[in-house]
Amino acid sequence: MEHIALAVIGGTGVYTLAALDEVRSHEVQTAYGAPSGPVRVGLLNGQRVAFLARHGEGHSIPPHRINYRANLAALKQLGATRVLALNTVGGITDNFGPRVLACPDQLIDYTWGRISTLCEEDGSDVLHVDFGHPYTPSFRARVLAAAKATGVVMQDGGCYGATQGPRLETNAEIARMRRDGCDLVGMTGMPEAGLARELGLEYACLAIVANWAAGCGEAEEITMAEVLANVEAASAGLPTLVGELARG
Ligand code: HPA
Repeated sequence: MEHIALAVIGGTGVYTLAALDEVRSHEVQTAYGAPSGPVRVGLLNGQRVAFLARHGEGHSIPPHRINYRANLAALKQLGATRVLALNTVGGITDNFGPRVLACPDQLIDYTWGRISTLCEEDGSDVLHVDFGHPYTPSFRARVLAAAKATGVVMQDGGCYGATQGPRLETNAEIARMRRDGCDLVGMTGMPEAGLARELGLEYACLAIVANWAAGCGEAEEITMAEVLANVEAASAGLPTLVGELARG
């Protein structure tokens, strides 16, 4: 098994890591089934980096149907120990407007009906992992340091609310999430973070704010065109940041 310095899971609007050299594709099978697509492993700054598109490279898998267990298990099987999750999100509170990059430090899980643990099968070990700090604090600190070193502006902290989707939220749902303390809303943050902890992977979220969440901005409607344009604009510095992060 080759050493993988960093694994990256791309979200909506981020389907490749164009900066990877000498890419090899791996069709991985896991005890939990197949991941969302091939894992692309290549070199970035001389370091081996793995990339997986969470929704599939053609964005064909909706959030509630992603095999989160297989995705993370595939990365671990290939030798990854650290996973940077890119999550496209809506912004709820003032500091989290469109095109902001954020590294949240907390989450609230509003999803339901997803396979959310490795303990699903009969006979599997019962795990009660600590999850007080859902993102690995030392790895979060590395992400923030890499952002600083590469001149990428990033919000330190914030609470990610994971919703079921695939529809966007009602204004009342977002108002409730704001009262709960959420700054960001997305559909894929859970069960991924919890499973990463169960698998013993270091895990941090880099949230890309694509739009104001329902009822938070001026727009009458949230469109995919707006979401994709803002993700593209906000992602310009990501290959450099990921390259820096892969270094150590
Ligand atoms: N809500 C949930 N998920 C999202 C949003 C949103 O407003 N924008 C991008 N992903």
